[in-house]
Amino acid sequence: MDDLQTRTETAVAAACAAATHDALETLRVDALGKQGWVSQLMKTLGKMTPEERQEKAPRIQAARAAIANAIEARKAALDAADLERKLATETLDLTLPAPQLPTGSVHPVSQVMDELAEIFADLGFAVKTGPEIEDDWHNFTALNMPESHPARAMHDTFYFPDSDAEGRRMLLRTHTSPVQIRTMVQEGAPLRIIAPGRVYRSDSDATHTPMFHQIEGLVIDKGIHLGHLKWTLETFLKAFFEREDIVLRLRPSYFPFTEPSVEVDVGFELVDGKRVLGGSGDEPGHAWMELLGSGMVNRRVIEFAGLDPDEWQGFAWGLGVDRLAMLKYGMDDLRAFFDGDRRWIDHYGFSPFDQPTLSAGVGAKA
Ligand code: DAH
Repeated sequence: MDDLQTRTETAVAAACAAATHDALETLRVDALGKQGWVSQLMKTLGKMTPEERQEKAPRIQAARAAIANAIEARKAALDAADLERKLATETLDLTLPAPQLPTGSVHPVSQVMDELAEIFADLGFAVKTGPEIEDDWHNFTALNMPESHPARAMHDTFYFPDSDAEGRRMLLRTHTSPVQIRTMVQEGAPLRIIAPGRVYRSDSDATHTPMFHQIEGLVIDKGIHLGHLKWTLETFLKAFFEREDIVLRLRPSYFPFTEPSVEVDVGFELVDGKRVLGGSGDEPGHAWMELLGSGMVNRRVIEFAGLDPDEWQGFAWGLGVDRLAMLKYGMDDLRAFFDGDRRWIDHYGFSPFDQPTLSAGVGAKA
């Protein structure tokens, strides 16, 4: 047993003198590891007589505690020394320029949608959304386009190969108009909403991409007429393009979901090859450009949505958000909107701090 005392003292002294974490670890394994000598001694306790065990167990346990404490204390001292060394040698040069902040900007489509939401919020419109994977009924039938309707063919629809669990034919919505139906069904009347979002058509060239963005507008109330439609669009376009001289021309047209339907043209002038909105298209040097589709909501659509068309009337419109962005901010190729090229977004993107507000102006300053 004196042997135990000597071995313990030797181990404690070695721990106190260990110069590195590695040396300390070797020492720990040697004494306290599974095969270490202290652990082996612990195992002998089982074979002793109770009297012998009573005498030796406390001594072996004390030896184990003394060595473990010595290792722990030395480990703390080595850690502290490491830290001291780092503090003494590693320096931070505060005179160096700060590293470049991560940059990021708001896509023109998001920016324009924010601008539209801000303008229409001021006119009392709420923002609604609907699913991009839509069923045939909401996208077509309820908008007065039955199965055989020729207008369905105009939409170049992406259909899913299989019907859903309830046997509905599913598709990628071809326009935001189904949000009209969903909102009327869910909320009834009266309503003033806009519905921005992605839409899909199988079409691709410099001015068409298979996915693009629309914004739908819908007003349902009593005694609504075309005058309300014209005032609303004029007010919105003047606010959006930030000029008072926006002139609209309403042209008779056809959409299954509106009756009467009107196509809205806006006057513009070519400046350095770019279209600048403003003035009548009939003025010298000016022309008309088709901007959006609209009309009085068809009675059949109001019925499909579960409302009484003798009580409720309304108007609706739909327009391309990407095109609106191109017109306002001067890009000329739609495909670049979705290329994800950093140089493009650095050039055309907007600061996230530049929120459109009516008080500061909806036009971005970037
Ligand atoms: N849904 C039409 C389209 O994608 C656009 C449209 C026209 C929407 C007239 C309307 C509307 O709400 O009244 O081509």
